[in-house]
Parts: sequence; structure tokens; C-alpha cells
Amino acid sequence: MSGLDVSVFPHDFAWGAATAAYQIEGGWNMDGRGPSIWDTFCHAKGRVFEDHTGDVACNSYQLWEEDLKCIRQLGLTHYRLSLSWSRLLPDGTTNHVNPKGVAYYNKVIDDLIACGVTPMITLYHMDLPQALQDLGGWSSTEIADIFESYARFCFKTFGDRVKLWITVNEPYVCAKLGHEDGIFAPGIKNPGISVYLAGHNMLRAHTKAWHTYNTHFRPLQAGQVSLALNSDWVEPLDPGCPKDATAAERYKDFTLDWFACPVFCTGDYSESMRARIETRSLDLGYKQGSRLPRFTKSEPSPLGTADFFALNYYTSRKVKDLNDGSKKNELSFEGDQGAEGVVDPSWPICGVHWLAVVPDGLRKLLKYIKDMYTSLPIYITENGFSQMGPVQIEDADRSQFYQDTLQEVGKAISQDRVNVKGYFAWSLLDNFEWSDGYSVRFGLFHVDFSTPELKRTIYRSGREYAAVISKHHSQPKPKNI
Ligand code: GAL
Repeated sequence: MSGLDVSVFPHDFAWGAATAAYQIEGGWNMDGRGPSIWDTFCHAKGRVFEDHTGDVACNSYQLWEEDLKCIRQLGLTHYRLSLSWSRLLPDGTTNHVNPKGVAYYNKVIDDLIACGVTPMITLYHMDLPQALQDLGGWSSTEIADIFESYARFCFKTFGDRVKLWITVNEPYVCAKLGHEDGIFAPGIKNPGISVYLAGHNMLRAHTKAWHTYNTHFRPLQAGQVSLALNSDWVEPLDPGCPKDATAAERYKDFTLDWFACPVFCTGDYSESMRARIETRSLDLGYKQGSRLPRFTKSEPSPLGTADFFALNYYTSRKVKDLNDGSKKNELSFEGDQGAEGVVDPSWPICGVHWLAVVPDGLRKLLKYIKDMYTSLPIYITENGFSQMGPVQIEDADRSQFYQDTLQEVGKAISQDRVNVKGYFAWSLLDNFEWSDGYSVRFGLFHVDFSTPELKRTIYRSGREYAAVISKHHSQPKPKNI
């Protein structure tokens, strides 16, 4: 990445890497941790690549100090991690707090701060306590208040030191893959219905947590809270075809807009999304009310419940119309969306099949967010490149990817005037990549899963990322700061 011009990044730019509890911690039944939906999902067999599980993962629960060495070796200014809800509250409620879980995260946070690294903490990254799933999980109305209590507990316990919070990571992925496709925990396949309910309850949960922070904690703790939204950059497959153009709009309606519109624009789902679902419900003879729930006046509005925009970007798609396709008469999310995202043949695929490498899609998306949603600062809370097959420590292609991507972020900052505050590479370590298990490697550090030591070895991309950070820090600081 030596060709990267680092002078365009603001002097206080956050250089980060991200992880998530279930993907790295292991220690699934140690020291009082309760089971989560991912434990149940993996233990059920046949759901994850070669029945891999997160039982041990990178064993970050016991090897945190090894992770800290990696963080220091990279010279990160920020580290994004998630809390395992069921490690802190084994049955998901504050009726029972696990002191060893609290001690673990206290140590992680204290060590980070002692090393000059700012923690960004995600409260929920896919791993609902199983006890709450047994009560209906994200499909139940009560979950929002239970999440609010969990969030309150975390703000109270860790908020004296943690100033950057993400409530929910990727509600789109949790809702769609977990409640429509059933390929992520909790493995529900209830097409066209549960997906909207789960997404809605995640938004309600986020909203309540943000308001709690705003009212009770912000005055003393002065931190910031948001939710992390994932989005591809999308364009019509045939720019001259009006149907593709409309399909691209619908694609956005059902992905980024689904959550961004309520939080950043209107306090409600977009009218086009609502109209589309209602029309199709009528056409398909669905009579049990709206499948897209409504926000009620008795609860706080989601509008304005983000102090920054947190974006997870991985890839781009060209969108074609699917209105008259095979899903036309199907009660399903994809039928509602009526659009299909395809990969442009000129885009290279890195590792995992869905990840087409399109760095300039990120620049376009950043500008779109600034123009459409908000002038608030944007953190890129995840972005990365995967490797499959034989391990290549000298991962020149990933290094090139990071250089190209950071160059596009630089252009967004210097040319498009987007207020990008930070960038978190996904991921610090190779880890448990959900239904792909350990077959897909996203780390800046390789983890040797074949031995109990789980040795971490820096990839070339990690070395080069460290060099970028250090070069940026050796830049002269602006005089007026
Ligand atoms: C995101 C997710 C991460 C990670 C990444 C790479 O959707 O938040 O946990 O798995 O994708 O696939």
C-alpha cells in the first residue's frame, strides 16, 4: 500500500479493525456463559460448513492478550469488538449477571485504553441468548424492552470508558438470513413475514437503547451511539432500461433504505416499500394485516436515533428487474423486492462467492449516504477481502484491495467532501465466518486453527496496513489543532 496518499485523511482519522464475539471468543460454556442461538445452530449439525462451530474459535476468551499484541502490532487507533450478550447475562435478562463475563470485558476495555486504543463496542452481533430465542427472539414484541435493559446495563457498566457504541450490527443480515432464508441462526424459514417482524423489532430495540443513552447516560458519559447498516452499492444492470432503473430503486428500498429511512429520513419505512408490500399482500390474498409492521405513537420514534452513520460495505451489484420472474406469485422477501442483484463479469471475486471486489462502489456509496441521508460523520465499520483454499501469508491481492479501497475512501474525503471519520478492516483475525465456518479467511492475522495454540501470524496485508497507519501518524499535524 506504499502508493497510498495518506495526507488526505484527517489527522484524527480512526484506523481500526473489527471482530465479533461469537466469531472469535470461543469459551462457549466457560465461566457461566449462557448459550446463544449460534451455539444451538452450530451444534444442530448440517448447517455450517463441515459442522464447524464457534466453541473454540480463536479462543479470544482465553487468549485476549494475544489479540492485544496483534492490535498493537498494527498500531490501530480503534478496535471494534462485540459483547457476547449471553456471557454477560446468561439468560439474556438483567435478573442474572455473570461477574466473570463483566470481568472479561472490563479487562479488554481497560487494556485497550491503557494502550491508547479507543474501543468501539457492538452490543449485538448476531448472537442472541438462546433463552430469549425460546421466548420468541426477534419475532417477539417484548424483545425490544429486554434489549433496552441489556443496553442500559452495558452503558452503566462500561460507558465510563466506552464512548462509541453500536446497538445492532446489520439488522438486514440478521433478519433476512436468520428469519427468511434460515441459513443463519436462528434458522427460521418463514418467507415474507418473519423477516419484517425481526427487522422491525431490531429497529425498536435500537431506538429504545439510543433514547436510554441519550436521556440517562449521554449527559455524563458524552459518548455516541448508532447502528451498523450493511449495504452494497447498486446500479441498474442496463442503465437505459427503465424497468432495471426502478428495480435498482426497489433493491435499495429493501436493503439500506429499509433501516436508514426510519432512522435518518422520516421515522418510518419508505412509502414505496410499504406500498409494494401492501399491494402484493392483497394480490396474493394475504389477509392477516400488514406484513410490514407500523411504528406506534406510544413508543419513541426511530428518527434521529444515530449520532453517526456506521456503514459495513463489502461489494456491489448490478440490478435487474425480476417483477415478472419466478418469484412473482411467491410470498417472500425476494418476491416483494422484485429485483435481482448480479455481479458484473469484470469484477474479480475474492474467496467467498458473493464478494466481488469493487472498491469504487464504496466511494459512490459514501457520497450517496451524504447526499441522501445525513451529514453526520460516517465510520466504515466493516470492509474486507477474503481468502479460501491454501493459506497465503503473502496475500498481495488483499494488500492491493486495501490500497485500492483506502484510495477510494480518500477520494470520498478530499473530492466528494464526505465526512468519513474512520475505517475498520474486517477482520483483525481469521475467524468463524458464520455458515462458512473456518473455510473463509478475512483476517489481517492468520490464525492456525489446526493447533491448540491458535497461533496468530500477520499477513502481508496486515504489515502493509500497519505501515499506512504509521505513515499517517508521521504526517505533520495541522497547526490550528
Ligand atoms: C458481515 C458480518 C461480519 C462478517 C462479514 C464477512 O456481514 O457483520 O460478522 O462475517 O460480514 O462476511
